[in-house]
Amino acid sequence: MPCFLAPSLLSANFGKLAEEIRIVEEGGADILHLDVMDGHFVPNISIGPLVVEAVRRVTRLPLDVHLMIEEPDRYLADFIAAGADRLSVHVEACTHLNRTLTEIRRLGAQPGVALNPSTPLGAIEEVLDEVFQVVLMSVNPGFGGQKFIFSSLKKIARLRFMLDQRRTQGGKEPLWIQVDGGVNAETAPQVLQAGADILVAGHAIFRQPDYVQAMVQLRQR
Ligand code: DX5
Ligand code: ZN
Repeated sequence: MPCFLAPSLLSANFGKLAEEIRIVEEGGADILHLDVMDGHFVPNISIGPLVVEAVRRVTRLPLDVHLMIEEPDRYLADFIAAGADRLSVHVEACTHLNRTLTEIRRLGAQPGVALNPSTPLGAIEEVLDEVFQVVLMSVNPGFGGQKFIFSSLKKIARLRFMLDQRRTQGGKEPLWIQVDGGVNAETAPQVLQAGADILVAGHAIFRQPDYVQAMVQLRQR
């Protein structure tokens, strides 16, 4: 199985964002993960479309935008116009999840659905045909640098099983499992072993002395 690495810019130095991006892009990052927080859905406030647009101008990597906001429908078009290639919304923030995901695809981006640690997998069973990726949060969203919640490993494995079964029944592909929160050199091998495809990592890359070396380590199984 491939392992895709998505550095999370939340932990990068925003005073020299273009340089930070250049280093991880040249160092082999597959995707850039951008965390959008509104101070309501999560207790923190981060970036909006303006920063996504600025990032779009300095990289060729796919931009994976993780919306941790209430009423995400109001902003889908803005983030996609700003350059988001993938747009993930939280199941907990969407009353009409199917409609939201369909709209993301109609607007030209790849839809993702994200789940908080306490949200059961059953919440997304009915939308698997609509999504490009499932984002399993392995911390309570809102901040970088938090401790990995170990019960996530079983959840990853259960989702892997669900998706593998679905594939044998002719389900649409690709459908990736992205794991977000507390992924570091210690937890990454366990996350991959449990069945994740995409590792998001903030502190484990941007708060290390050598980003490239840190990325190499994260890929080790
Ligand atoms: C947390 C964000 C994450 C965050 C991960 O709410 O969704 O993407 O940047 O940071 P680390 O890897 O430091 O836990
Ligand atoms: Zn995230």
